[in-house]
Amino acid sequence: MNYSVLTQDAYKQKTDCLILGIPEGKTLPKSLAALDASLDGMLKGLFSAGDISSKVGDTSWVHTPDKPAKRLLFVGVGKSKELDAAKLRKAIQAAMGALAKSSATTAISTLGEFADKTLANDRVVEHSILALESALYTFDQLKSEKAKPGKLKQLKLTGSKADEKAVAKAEAIAKGIALTKTLGNLPGNICTPEYLAKQAREMSKSYKSVKVTVLDEKKMKELGMGSLLSVAAGSAEPPRLITMEYKGADSKKKPHVLVGKGITFDTGGISLKPGQAMDEMKYDMCGAASVFGTLTALAEMNAPINVVGVVAAAENMPGSKATKPGDIVTSMSGQTIEILNTDAEGRLVLCDALTYSEKFNPDTVVDIATLTGACIIALGNETTGLMANDDKLAQELLAAGQATGDRAWQLPLWDEYQSALDSNFADIQNIGDRSAGTITAACFLSRFTKKYRWAHLDIAGVAWTSGKAKGASGRPVPLLTEYLLNKL
Ligand code: BES
Ligand code: MN
Ligand code: ZN
Repeated sequence: MNYSVLTQDAYKQKTDCLILGIPEGKTLPKSLAALDASLDGMLKGLFSAGDISSKVGDTSWVHTPDKPAKRLLFVGVGKSKELDAAKLRKAIQAAMGALAKSSATTAISTLGEFADKTLANDRVVEHSILALESALYTFDQLKSEKAKPGKLKQLKLTGSKADEKAVAKAEAIAKGIALTKTLGNLPGNICTPEYLAKQAREMSKSYKSVKVTVLDEKKMKELGMGSLLSVAAGSAEPPRLITMEYKGADSKKKPHVLVGKGITFDTGGISLKPGQAMDEMKYDMCGAASVFGTLTALAEMNAPINVVGVVAAAENMPGSKATKPGDIVTSMSGQTIEILNTDAEGRLVLCDALTYSEKFNPDTVVDIATLTGACIIALGNETTGLMANDDKLAQELLAAGQATGDRAWQLPLWDEYQSALDSNFADIQNIGDRSAGTITAACFLSRFTKKYRWAHLDIAGVAWTSGKAKGASGRPVPLLTEYLLNKL
C-alpha cells in the first residue's frame, strides 16, 4: 500500500473514494456545503432522509461517478461535543474497514478534520494506517484457497508536512502487528518452541541490528532453570530460551528488556484444562509474539534505542515425565517452588526468563503474558492488566496505552497479597487461592524482579478474539512501541 500525507485541498482531488466524517446535527455540516452544491443538494437530501448516518462508526456510500471523487464514504462521528479520542478511533476503524472491502483503488481520508488535542493529526494518520492494515490482514497460509488481494493501492491522509513521520512509523508498527498476529494464529503443531527460535534467527537475517541467541535444554540445565524446564518436562517438544538483542543506540546505553511468555500450547499439564475452547491455548504464546512484533517495528524504523527481547518458549503437556502437582523445583534464582497446579505454568517459565534478564543490566524490564483467566474476569477483553514494582514505569506504560488506544489498567501489587504464595514445603508455591488471581500471579513474578524496575502486562483478555472472528489482535505491540519510542 502506498500511504502519504495530503497537504492540498482534499475536495479538489481526483480519487476513487473520498472519506468524510459526519457529525450529528439538524442539518448537513457546513464543511460539506460546497461539495453538496456541486451535487445539486443531493447530500442534504440524503442526510435529512437519514440515509447518511451520523452515529459513531456508521458508514454510508454515495456514488458520484462524474465527479473528481467517484465515491464518497461517510462515517458518523456522533455529537461534536462528545467526540473524543476513543470515538474518533472507532470512526476511523469503521471507515477503514469499509474501504478495505470496497473496490476503490485510491482513497483520500479527511478524518484529520476532527483531530484535536485528545487525538492530534499525526495520531489520526497513524491510527488510520494501522486500522486499514488490520482490516486488510489475512491469515490464509494454511488454506488451499487464498483470499483475493484487495484492490486498494493508495491512501492519502489529510495533514501537514509534519505528519509525514507518522506514516513511516505506522507502517513499521503495522508490520510488527502483522507478525504478532501471524505467530499467534499459527497452530501449536507448527508454531513450536523451535519454530519461534527459527523465527528469531530469520529476524537476525532480515535486520543486521538484531542479534539472536537460543538456549537449549542442556544450557538451561547448566544455568539452573529448573522452573522453566519443569513446564516442558511433559512434552516431546524441547523448550527454547530465545534472546533477540536489538541495538539501535550506543552500546553504553542500558537496554530495555521485553520478556514474553511463549507457551506454544497450554493443555494445563497434569492439571489438565477442560476441553471447551482448548484450541485457543495455541494463543498462549501471544506475549512472546508481541516481543517479536515490537522488535520488528523498532528494527524496521531504525529506532535509536537498545531493546532486548527474551522469549521463554515451551509446550505444556501431560506426558509421562510431566511435572506433578506437589513437585518442588529450584528456579535459576535459587528459590524453590512448590508446583501445586501445573496449569499455572506461565509464571514458571517467566520467572527463570526474568532472572536471566538480569545479565543485560536492564534500564527497565516489561514482561508480557497471557497469564491468568482471572484477568479476563477482572478487566474483560478491552483492557490489559498492568502491575509494576515502580510507579513511574507503570505511569509511562499506562500513558503509552492511552496515546495509542491500546489501553491498560493498573492493579495493585501490595505486600498484603504476597502471603497467598506461602508454601509449607518450599520457598514459594505457584498459586494462591481463587481470589485476586491476576495479582497473585504478578506477586509470584515480583519475587524474581527485585533487581530492576519491572512491569507486568497480563494480556489474557486482549491478545486474541474468540468466536466467529477468532484471531490474534496484535496487542500490545502499539503500547510497547509507543512506550519505547517515548524513551528517545
Ligand atoms: N494461559 C492460561 C491463562 C489463560 C486462560 C489465558 C484462558 C487466556 C484464557 C494460564 O496458563 C492458566 O492456565 N492460568 C490459570 C492459573 C490458575 C491455575 C492459578 C488460570 O487462569 O486458570
Ligand atoms: Mn496454564
Ligand atoms: Zn498458560
